[in-house]
Amino acid sequence: MTLYDELGGPAAVAEVVDRFYGNVLADPDLVGYFDDTDLDRLKAHQRAFVSAALGATSGYGGRGMKQAHAGRGITGEAFDAVVGHLAAALIECGATMDQVGQVAELLAPLKPDIVEGSAPVH
Ligand code: HEM
Repeated sequence: MTLYDELGGPAAVAEVVDRFYGNVLADPDLVGYFDDTDLDRLKAHQRAFVSAALGATSGYGGRGMKQAHAGRGITGEAFDAVVGHLAAALIECGATMDQVGQVAELLAPLKPDIVEGSAPVH
């Protein structure tokens, strides 16, 4: 059973996506990354992110993630901030700290593919 099922499947995920989306757009350090992204694509992005985070999808990771994010200059701090907003959205939707910890573990392996630059990836 994935976290996706534990949290309640599609309805719960839609709720998490809505809150996460609001959190990211309200963050002045993050909104700039999405300047060239229209709202439909942004929403699709948040859904992809949440689905990956909840283990609902396989097939993310590796070259796909690297290519999708190449040249965007995403920093380790930005990555961590996005994960933080997701954690907050999950808590707001009733997830436990244990579940949030599992999400962080699922996302961590994607970080080296998404973050660019010479700063150490932590
Ligand atoms: C686990 C983490 C992430 C996942 C699973 C993920 C997923 C994706 C996917 C699937 C795409 C391709 C969308 C498409 O081409 O239609 C994409 C593009 C993109 N991602 Fe991510 N992403 C993650 C983290 C991040 C972070 C941390 C940022 C910025 C702070 C970011 C910013 C972007 C931007 C700006 C695009 C291009 C969107 C567009 O204009 O279409 N992503 N991401």
